Amino acid sequence: KNVAILGCPFNGGQARSGVETGPLHVLEHGLEEQLQSLDWTITSCKNLTFTPPASDPDEGKLKRPRFVSESTHKVASEVADIIKSGSFPLTIGGDHSLAIGTVSGVFSQFPDACLIWIDAHADINTPASTPSGNIHGCPVSFVMGLADPCPPQFEWVKPLLKANKLAYIGLRDVDSGEREILKKHNIAAYSMHHVDKFGIGKVVEMALERVNPDGSAPIHLSLDIDALDPQHAPATGTPVRGGLSLREACYICEALAETGNLVSMDIMECNPVLGIDERSVTSTISAACSLVRCAMGETLL
Ligand code: ARG
Ligand code: MN
Ligand code: MN
Ligand code: MN
Repeated sequence: KNVAILGCPFNGGQARSGVETGPLHVLEHGLEEQLQSLDWTITSCKNLTFTPPASDPDEGKLKRPRFVSESTHKVASEVADIIKSGSFPLTIGGDHSLAIGTVSGVFSQFPDACLIWIDAHADINTPASTPSGNIHGCPVSFVMGLADPCPPQFEWVKPLLKANKLAYIGLRDVDSGEREILKKHNIAAYSMHHVDKFGIGKVVEMALERVNPDGSAPIHLSLDIDALDPQHAPATGTPVRGGLSLREACYICEALAETGNLVSMDIMECNPVLGIDERSVTSTISAACSLVRCAMGETLL
């Protein structure tokens, strides 16, 4: 069991600074030792550096398109290299626009993979539908090729993700343009309403049945810490009340680990600077570490 940790101190996909300090806080919390005690060998642990271009005018509504494109392109090639070397890429963000890079990297190596996206938000806005212009609200549309026309900066991004290979869990703040996209493409989307109605066990089962019916596809997990209720993870840029309990989110990760098919994971959007006190920062970071451990084989018994 080999893991390569990729710290991505990147904030260009949204407006609030601080999210770039997420990777450092997660590592300082002892994640490496925690993974080693789960019998993982850490083959590398590096922090990428991202330098904003001198000039980066908006592309239509999109903010900082060059910075996001260059940074995520770098992430895509790092993730692909990690997989080629036989390790599991664990990418720590940074904002969720980074998933343009992680999904591109994973799907370039595992074309038949599926994507489980755990988030309060669908992050599937297109350059036309985005209400904010923040690219962390758009990564899924980019990797699906829904951005039409594709912004010139992002021409390197290939439409590797098919609609039937994507499932969401935890949604509760979906923009109207995003709802239309989810419907139009018949994307498996389980909101908090479904979690309440069916229970988390059934929801994970249904989600996997939709994207991976024969159970053989490699799985990439992209986890936005704001999927958790702000009670458990307050230090994040776009918190939304009424989210997953810590156990529900851990359960998802445990169930994905149990499939034996998880090949890559992102943990995104921890913003320690937004914690109102030390305790809210610690609970957010320790929740992030718990979720990673659960996805990487920690069990309760
Ligand atoms: N839907 C909103 C937008 O597009 C919020 C996105 C929040 N995304 C996130 N990765 N936290 O701006
Ligand atoms: Mn989110
Ligand atoms: Mn909103
Ligand atoms: Mn997100």
